[in-house]
Amino acid sequence: MSVKPYSPEGGSKKDQVRQMFDHIAPKYDFLNRTLSFGIDKIWRKRVVKLLRRKGAMQIMDVATGTGDLAIAIARSVRNAEIWGVDLSSGMLELAAKKVEKKGLQDRVKLRQGDSEALPFDDNSFDAITVAFGVRNFGDLNRGLSEMQRVLRPAGTLYVLEFSRPSSFPIRQLYGFYFTRILPWWGGLVSKDKAAYTYLPASVLQFPDGKDFEAELEKAGLKPIRSWKQTFGIATIYISEK
Ligand SMILES: C[S@@+](CC[C@H](N)C(=O)[O-])C[C@H]1O[C@@H](n2cnc3c(N)ncnc32)[C@H](O)[C@@H]1O
Repeated sequence: MSVKPYSPEGGSKKDQVRQMFDHIAPKYDFLNRTLSFGIDKIWRKRVVKLLRRKGAMQIMDVATGTGDLAIAIARSVRNAEIWGVDLSSGMLELAAKKVEKKGLQDRVKLRQGDSEALPFDDNSFDAITVAFGVRNFGDLNRGLSEMQRVLRPAGTLYVLEFSRPSSFPIRQLYGFYFTRILPWWGGLVSKDKAAYTYLPASVLQFPDGKDFEAELEKAGLKPIRSWKQTFGIATIYISEK
């Protein structure tokens, strides 16, 4: 059974995830930048570069959160129309402010929605992105299958997600940072220690590498390439419908 943010008994994973992101939303961007030393921005830029190469026009950013990836896509993929979908109204409120501040409201549309029941027709998007979202889904297979459904034939799914570095000594050093320092700093700043204990716990039990590719296949997608980022701390998974 997959790990939940607050308590194994109280409420579904989805409800707890929504509650957690509503709670930490005001500190989310600051913590992202400080906890990753800014590397998360480089990873998102790589996803944008891949999308630009594909020349996708109709794009959805699932689990868009505070909108960083959707905004980066809008700025760099000319004429693309982007839908940003997220479960948490707290995260979306911040995304909306950022989109407006950058004058991108005609190109980036935000909508509250669940990845397991996407509010879009079949075959609607040329490309879908999800950054650090799939690990939080209540039902991974349902979420991936939904994305497969709304992708057009030959459409591409780009998943950016944490993975586990395997080589010595990165694995050991990263393990210490991830399970000791990160929960302490994240808990201190967000006043939600559970949220930043859930982060490493959920990464440790989430399928990565070939195991995640197998999940993509189960959902009817064809894995094309898995691109490890920064010693394998994160991976960009590219798959096609
Ligand atoms: C770690 S944040 C990532 C946000 C953003 N993509 C980024 O790169 O910073 C995970 C996001 O996934 C959203 N999320 C989790 N489960 C979801 C679901 N079932 N449907 C839609 N969004 C979901 C959360 O609300 C949260 O905003």
